[in-house]
Amino acid sequence: MKIGVLGAGRMAEALVPGWVRAGHEVLIGGRTPAKAEDLAQRVGAKAGTLREAAEFGDAVLLAVLLAGLEETLVAAGGPEGALAGKTIIDCGNAVDLSDFSQITFHGGTSMAEEVARLAPGAHVVKAFNQAHGDVWKKRPLSFDGRPFTVPIAGDEGGKAAARALINDLGAEALDAGDLTQARHLEAMAIIVIRLLFSGYDPMSVFTFTGRGATGQPDSSR
Ligand SMILES: NC(=O)c1ccc[n+]([C@@H]2O[C@H](COP(=O)([O-])OP(=O)(O)OC[C@H]3O[C@@H](n4cnc5c(N)ncnc54)[C@H](OP(=O)(O)O)[C@@H]3O)[C@@H](O)[C@H]2O)c1
Repeated sequence: MKIGVLGAGRMAEALVPGWVRAGHEVLIGGRTPAKAEDLAQRVGAKAGTLREAAEFGDAVLLAVLLAGLEETLVAAGGPEGALAGKTIIDCGNAVDLSDFSQITFHGGTSMAEEVARLAPGAHVVKAFNQAHGDVWKKRPLSFDGRPFTVPIAGDEGGKAAARALINDLGAEALDAGDLTQARHLEAMAIIVIRLLFSGYDPMSVFTFTGRGATGQPDSSR
């Protein structure tokens, strides 16, 4: 698959190497060209502008802070339809990072729903917003023998691509519903972020795991 990445920060750095290893072609677009170029070189991807990343990807990872959301999607051509028909996987959280006690939802909605507004026609799926980026370095990516699980919420038209890209990282998707459920996934992430900033080990916070071979919850735990 061709994957465009909007953002050249920590989450792009956490997720792209696994996709490159799985054989996907990745183009990283950044607001700051030197950062995108540097990251692309380190992870085996190409670099370009935000618009080039939007046009390149069949699937597009959006990995930016809330403060940069509108600026990024406008530069990528979202409002003009450059992302129409593509899957956008949004890993962001509607959090004001200047104050960890404050949750900033846009009028009761989520970052992912804002993405859908700013990129009409795109298939938006919320994913990867819960776990700290360092979790993606774990090998194997399992806990007590069970696969790491990534909750997703969004447009049905984007879920197959999102599932495939989650599987390619050695994890499993857990379907949490339609795009409105992104509000709840982003709210859960507020708790994760607070725990991480109070010193918890990234591996220990909300470590979602698969149900194991029986498919039943294990009542012995
Ligand atoms: N880090 C994690 O462990 C983690 C885990 C799960 C979810 N998330 C979420 O994923 C998203 C990306 O996080 P990250 O850790 O990758 O962030 P980051 O390292 O700070 O990178 C943010 C990216 O957003 C870009 N950006 C564009 N406009 C911006 C603006 N006006 N203000 C600030 N940044 C702007 C930055 O551009 P420049 O390169 O030009 O600065 C950078 O490429 C966030 O919404 C975060 O909540 C993060």
